[in-house]
Amino acid sequence: MSVLNITAKAATTLDQLKSHALVVLVPERKSLGARLRELDKFLGGSLSRTIANRDFTPTCGATTWLSGADQLDRVLLVGCGDLSQRAPASDKKIAEGLSRALMNCAAKDAIIWTEGLSQKIKQPEQLLEQIALQLTLAHYQYSQTLNHRKKPPRELRRVSVTPTNLCTTASAKRALDAGSAIGHGANLTRELVNLPGNICTPRYLAAEARKLAKRHSELSVSILDERKMADLGMHSLLSVGNGSDEPSRLITLKYQGGPAKSRPYCLVGKGITFDTGGISLKPGAKMDEMKFDMGGAASVFGSIHAAALLKLPINIVGVIAAAENMPSGRATKPGDVVKSLSGKTIEILNTDAEGRLVLCDALTYVSRFAPEEVIDIATLTGAIIVALGHEATGIFSNDDHLANSLLEAGIRSHDRGWRFPIWEEYHRQLESPFADLANIGTGGAGSITAACFLAQFTEDYKWAHLDIAGTAFKGSPKGATGRPVPMLVDYLRERSARR
Ligand code: BES
Ligand code: MN
Ligand code: ZN
Repeated sequence: MSVLNITAKAATTLDQLKSHALVVLVPERKSLGARLRELDKFLGGSLSRTIANRDFTPTCGATTWLSGADQLDRVLLVGCGDLSQRAPASDKKIAEGLSRALMNCAAKDAIIWTEGLSQKIKQPEQLLEQIALQLTLAHYQYSQTLNHRKKPPRELRRVSVTPTNLCTTASAKRALDAGSAIGHGANLTRELVNLPGNICTPRYLAAEARKLAKRHSELSVSILDERKMADLGMHSLLSVGNGSDEPSRLITLKYQGGPAKSRPYCLVGKGITFDTGGISLKPGAKMDEMKFDMGGAASVFGSIHAAALLKLPINIVGVIAAAENMPSGRATKPGDVVKSLSGKTIEILNTDAEGRLVLCDALTYVSRFAPEEVIDIATLTGAIIVALGHEATGIFSNDDHLANSLLEAGIRSHDRGWRFPIWEEYHRQLESPFADLANIGTGGAGSITAACFLAQFTEDYKWAHLDIAGTAFKGSPKGATGRPVPMLVDYLRERSARR
């Protein structure tokens, strides 16, 4: 896969700019500012004519192409809306419009010219970060199992930004690096999620963890196979892989960016590399989408990759519970009772509620790291899609401060979540006559009862659960989104800034 290089650059005069594409940010206002008038003159009046003809209105994210002049092959106008009313969502719209247009042209390099934004804007770094993030996301193409003739690689290789009117080159560079880092993290997540279940198995995820650790000196990896997990007593996790010929794995990725003694932030990912439902077999339609059921695990990889690129000064432990959920003569049956690592027994009433079975053991396991906070990420329930569609991630937590931090991180990063209750009344649905708890509820609120199940294994620390069944992937065009990596990395950056 080709990489996209995004840098900040000191400005020069118009006639010295040389590029396949000049990207011009245009604010929505009554008349062109001085710098845009200068550019218009340089382009022989085509900018003012396009606006006067109403072929282009600079609303947020609107784009149009003009032919270039001199050493500029082409010019892309990108509308930025009314900057006095700029909201977090505007930055994303501007960046998405810009990125889409650039990826669909033949330019190998581009210059983003910000000097058309004549008025001072608040937090220009946020706009620059979002531009780098969206460019990096748009540059990603799934290719591993595709013929190159079908999908030629992206042309665009280099983008430079001349932000002198907005902020210093140094702070622009920091913002662009941050956006790129989050984009690279999210793209790693997307690649793992998009890979088919016959390639991306629990053992493949373990190999990927080792590969990631080779790329960053602050990372180390340890992997538990089924024998080691059995010795520890992780029978809930192991029960999910019973029916599969693919052995389960518990993968631990440690990132040490802070002092050795400082308590880590733990990310726990659901890594079901394929979910058939097991003996409680799913219907056939869209079952292929269940290769995405390791989206939580993939977001742990992506967030840690981004944290390492950003050199965050904190410690992070990522734990991935990886298994394949299949029916067979050895598979777990409805009514089976297993003993979890915590000692609690679980009656498995539905083998399709397998995510919570692997997560509960992983959540018990992480208490050995004396975590500051623990967040699990899982494509846990279809019910969260009924509640929130594909817009927001479901947030559940036993700690208000942590829940609010995640909500705020979601707003700042344009990767939003919404909180649900996990009241005692819901917990009662999980009572079982044959075990300490059952793995499904019976009275509705499926996403909440799933979270309540997890909450019974996380009483010793501050914990949040992210249900990403609706946000980790899209139906059309089919593929992974890289969410909730932007939210998680924003949260980790905020926690880094506190120390
Ligand atoms: N992986 C699924 C959840 C899911 C469904 C993710 C649709 C993405 C799209 C999960 O393992 C599951 O099967 N959950 C069941 C729980 C039920 C049996 C209590 C569900 O949501 O139907
Ligand atoms: Mn399932
Ligand atoms: Zn599942």
